[in-house]
Amino acid sequence: MLKENIQQVLAEIEQLKANNEKELEDLRIKYLSKKGAITNLMNEFRNVSAEQKRELGIALNKLKTEAQDKINQLREQIQTKCAAVDTDIDLTRTAYPTPLGTRHPISLVRNEIIDIFTRLGFSLADGPEVEDDLHVFTKMNFAADHPARDMQDTFFVEDSKGSVEKNVILRSHTSSVQARVMEHQQPPIRVICPGRVYRNETITARAHCFFHQVEGLYIDKNVSFADLKQVLLLFAQEMFGKDTQIRLRPSYFPFTEPSAEMDISCHICGGKGCSFCKNTGWVEILGCGMVDPNVLELCGIDSKVYSGYAFGLGIERITNLKYMVKDLRMFSENDERFLNEFVSAN
Ligand code: DAH
Repeated sequence: MLKENIQQVLAEIEQLKANNEKELEDLRIKYLSKKGAITNLMNEFRNVSAEQKRELGIALNKLKTEAQDKINQLREQIQTKCAAVDTDIDLTRTAYPTPLGTRHPISLVRNEIIDIFTRLGFSLADGPEVEDDLHVFTKMNFAADHPARDMQDTFFVEDSKGSVEKNVILRSHTSSVQARVMEHQQPPIRVICPGRVYRNETITARAHCFFHQVEGLYIDKNVSFADLKQVLLLFAQEMFGKDTQIRLRPSYFPFTEPSAEMDISCHICGGKGCSFCKNTGWVEILGCGMVDPNVLELCGIDSKVYSGYAFGLGIERITNLKYMVKDLRMFSENDERFLNEFVSAN
């Protein structure tokens, strides 16, 4: 019995392999420690009959030496392997350059917009992307049957059972942050809210299911349309150059009255007319207006005491104009060739 056991352990020992010091130590413990396999065999040796003692004694001694030799041999192998790796390290060699990431063009333009408006005294406000109907539509004075409330235009969020919760949506504009700010703050309010918005659109070169906006809101006593116009003119000139002109066209938004859309003189042709501005000399950049008194009241602000203006601009739109990106999809494809074009702008 002991004889077979010795032979079995001997066969195991011959096959031993270790990749590192830890594995080697585990093997040493398994075979050579006080509770190891070989010590156990030595203990059994006490019980063998006198005539077997000589033969098994020799076999056991041989096993122990074999095991020790094998462990030493493995240790040597591991040490030479480590030494080889060590000598590969040339501490004098210049380090590989770590390629630095660059800011995404949308972030670049967003930061520039934030920079301009904070210099004009605006502070930053934030709100959730997964919003409720109340903040996105109701408090923004959307009629109950407004088409934006339809699933064709807005993403509705399913609950855990898979049924659509009519109240939980992905915000379709950052105007929702207006409601969030007004709920918690009384005038004077002067904020911009940059953020991502979602719309149920087919993805093409000119439309995407998500994009970025910056909302602006200013509420105080005696705020007039002239204040709005002046701030937007300053913004346009800071963003697109001192010679930039603006024009306001009457428009409609549920949350502003009166409402307008703002164009800037085409900075590519200087207003003469080109393919970019479709020969009109003007390009549209944002929507704006005086905050509708209904919105103020719905958000807990006295519309008889306070008035305000709001505006909303698309960051992709401004980025397209600034860097002439023709296809909206490039902003979310993360093609390094595209992103690397903005290295110098960083
Ligand atoms: N929320 C509008 C949109 O997503 C943009 C907008 C227009 C915001 C006029 C405003 C505004 O604050 O006054 O198209």
